[in-house]
Amino acid sequence: MERDRLPTRLLAVDPRRPGGAALQEAGALLRRGGLVAFPTETVYGLGANALDGKAVAGIFKAKGRPADNPLIVHLDEAGRIEEYIERVPGPLKDLAARFWPGPLTVVLRGGAQFPPAVTAGLPTVAFRVPAHPVALALIRTAGVPLAAPSANASGRPSPTTAAHVLDDLDGRIHLVLDGGPAGLGVESTVLDLSGARPVILRPGGVTPEQLAAVLGEVELDPSVNGGAGVEKPRSPGMKYIHYAPRAPLVLVEGRDGDLVVQRLLEEGRRLAGHGRRVGVLACSENAPRYRERGYTVIAYGRRCDPAAAAAALYESLRRFDRLGVDVILAEGVPDAGMGLAVMNRLRRAAGGKIITV
Ligand code: TXA
Ligand code: MG
Repeated sequence: MERDRLPTRLLAVDPRRPGGAALQEAGALLRRGGLVAFPTETVYGLGANALDGKAVAGIFKAKGRPADNPLIVHLDEAGRIEEYIERVPGPLKDLAARFWPGPLTVVLRGGAQFPPAVTAGLPTVAFRVPAHPVALALIRTAGVPLAAPSANASGRPSPTTAAHVLDDLDGRIHLVLDGGPAGLGVESTVLDLSGARPVILRPGGVTPEQLAAVLGEVELDPSVNGGAGVEKPRSPGMKYIHYAPRAPLVLVEGRDGDLVVQRLLEEGRRLAGHGRRVGVLACSENAPRYRERGYTVIAYGRRCDPAAAAAALYESLRRFDRLGVDVILAEGVPDAGMGLAVMNRLRRAAGGKIITV
C-alpha cells in the first residue's frame, strides 16, 4: 500500500472567484488522467476524465469502491448531454431549466461512449450539472466531462470539507481543491428518467415536492425508505452500507418529539449501564436533556430543521469518530422536504438498527 502512496497536494481556491494557477493545474492534471477532489454545492467530489477508462479505474481504486456501482458524469452545461445521448427524454428540458445547475442527477438511456467503468456496464448513464462555481470552473478548465463520486473512502460519510477528503484519501489522489465547506451537506437527488415514469432512486438536494411541481408526479424507488435490505435497488449504490461512522449508530424516530427523547434516554441508560460511551446526535432544543446525563452530544440544527440537519449530518458523524464514542444514538428529523434525504442517510447509517416510537 505505502509503495503506491501519491503526494496529495492541497490548493485553495476562492469560491467567489475561481481561477488562477490552482485551477489551471487541476485542469491539466485531469487531462493527463489524474484524480482531483473538488467542492460541489452538495458534497466534495473525486473527479477524473469520464472519457479516460484508466483514470476512471483510478477512482474505484482510490475509494475502494465496488466495481458495480456506476458514477455520475458532471457537465458544465445541460446542452452537452446531446453529445452523449441520442434521444433526450421530454421532461429533461423542464427539469434542466428549473434545477440545473444544481443538486439533481438524471439517469438516461445510453452512455456507450463512456468507458464501461463509468456506467458499471449498465445501459444507462447518470448526468449532473453542479452549481458550485469551483466545480463549474474546473469542468470548463479541464475541457472534459468529469466522472465524480463523493470524495470519501467507500462506505464512509461523504466529505463536506477538504479536510474530510484528506482524512480518507490522502496519499491516494493527486490534488484536493479547497473551496471551503460544501453547501447542502447531502448528495444530489438521483432521478431515473430511463423508464416509462420518473423514479427517485436517491433522495437529495432537490426535494420530491420540488420535482413533483415540474413533473406532475414522481415515484420513490422502494429502496429509498427500505434502507440496505431491499433485494435489487435500481441505483446500485443504494444496496451498500453507506454513510457510516465507525461507531454503530442507532436511529430513534417517530412523530412525537417527546416520545423520541424518552425512548432515546432509555436506550442511553441501558447502554451506559453496560459501560458504553454514548454519543447523541440531537436536535439543538433537546441537546441539554442529553448533556445533563453526561452523554457526548452533537446538535444538528434548530428545531430539527431538515436543511440544517443536512448541512451538519456528515460532519457530525465524522466528529463522533474523532471523539471516540462506542455507540451513537441519533434523533430522526421530520422526513418532509430535505428531511427525506437526511432520514435516508441516517437509516442507512443505522443499517437496520432503528427504534420507531
Ligand atoms: O451530489 C452528488 O451527487 C455527489 C457530487 C460529487 O456530485 N456525487 C455522488 O456520487 O454522490 P456517488 O458516486 O457517491 O453517488 C452516485 C449515485 C450512486 O448511488 C450510484 O449508484 C447512482 O448514483 N448512479 C450512478 N449512475 C447510475 C445509473 N446509470 N443508474 C442508476 N444509478 C446510478
Ligand atoms: Mg457516495
